[in-house]
Amino acid sequence: MKRILVTGGAGYIGSITCVQLIAAGLQPVILDNLHNAKAAVIDRIEQVAGQRPAFVQGDIRDRALLDHLLREHAIDAVIHFAGLKAVGESVAQPLSYYDNNVHGTLVLIEAMRDAGVRTLVFSSSATVYGDATQMPLREDTPTSATNPYGRTKLMVEQILADVVASDPAWSMTALRYFNPVGAHPSGLMGEDPQGVPNNLMPFIAQVAVGRREALRIFGRDYPTPDGTGMRDYIHVMDLADGHLAALNHAHGRAGLHVFNLGTGHGNSVLEMLAAFGRACGRELPHEFAPRRPGDVAACWADPTRAESQLGWCATRTLDQMCADTWRWQSTHPNGYES
Ligand code: NAD
Ligand code: WQD
Repeated sequence: MKRILVTGGAGYIGSITCVQLIAAGLQPVILDNLHNAKAAVIDRIEQVAGQRPAFVQGDIRDRALLDHLLREHAIDAVIHFAGLKAVGESVAQPLSYYDNNVHGTLVLIEAMRDAGVRTLVFSSSATVYGDATQMPLREDTPTSATNPYGRTKLMVEQILADVVASDPAWSMTALRYFNPVGAHPSGLMGEDPQGVPNNLMPFIAQVAVGRREALRIFGRDYPTPDGTGMRDYIHVMDLADGHLAALNHAHGRAGLHVFNLGTGHGNSVLEMLAAFGRACGRELPHEFAPRRPGDVAACWADPTRAESQLGWCATRTLDQMCADTWRWQSTHPNGYES
């Protein structure tokens, strides 16, 4: 397995995964419609990895394009990152989410079937655990969804299971990411959200660089040690390495494989803010605000299945996550357009 189609490979996690794929001697072929990414990312992958990946600007819902790409590049396996990911936006625009994330995945799987490509690694999410309260979350913890985005991830996981059941030649892997943060340690690649960041880490980073005044902490009365929400933050480099481990594992192993990719530890919002303050060298302004609707108090993974079956575990610390984010954000205050 050498030539890997990477849908959404110009995005935050996909682009850094491409660097790690190249480092491992694989050849990523990126398909991305640049809905949430900049073309400049491809130059950065080349700069960091020392090799330019093939890049096609296009949409996963374009069946003719997929047919062409899978054959032209003799693709061996697909890592499928492409999709929309903003929870609030999914409530306002559910049809776009079902179209991109569910219909888009169907088009991709049909094209793979017809091209004889039977290995898929899919970006799922801890969001499939819904509002589960029993921690840590294991892969057999019951799943549910609390918003349209989460439903798209759950639906795709169910589609993968049905496809595998219908044809044992498939090897499908759903990777349930916890909270990806951090940047490439070179400081040349990182998260570049458009508009006001929805997620904690990019918001803190923009406060640190002076783009935003203060962090608003959503809720200080959760049943957690300091009252703020706890999450399992995982370094994007560890996540990228998890995809390599999943590809290696998939080789010759048919069926549906589901793995949590997390550290197994939760950190609170206040702990994150303090850690980032250490990385950037000053205390960061914050204020308390009401709980954000739909948030759970705490969420962290049991990552032992990935450790035992993939031989993968997260190794980067919270301080590395913050230091690497700060290196990227401070040198690129306006992201890739800096
Ligand atoms: P991202 O938005 O940076 O990357 C997704 C990429 O897909 C973007 O470059 C976008 O332009 C592209 N894309 C979207 N729709 C497309 C389409 N129809 N055709 C072609 N390209 C398309 O997001 P990310 O953070 O890198 O996330 C990657 C994947 O991981 C997503 O599927 C997301 O749902 C999932 N995920 C992300 C997180 C997170 O917190 N970042 C957590 C869990 C799961
Ligand atoms: C983390 C903590 C907030 C912003 C989301 C999606 C999930 C997954 C990852 C894709 C919470 C608090 C945040 C702020 C704050 N994405 N917070 N002030 O909600 O765990 O997960 O991203 O699959 O599906 O729901 O991550 O980074 O938004 O929030 O206090 O300005 O930070 O309340 O406790 P979340 P997050």
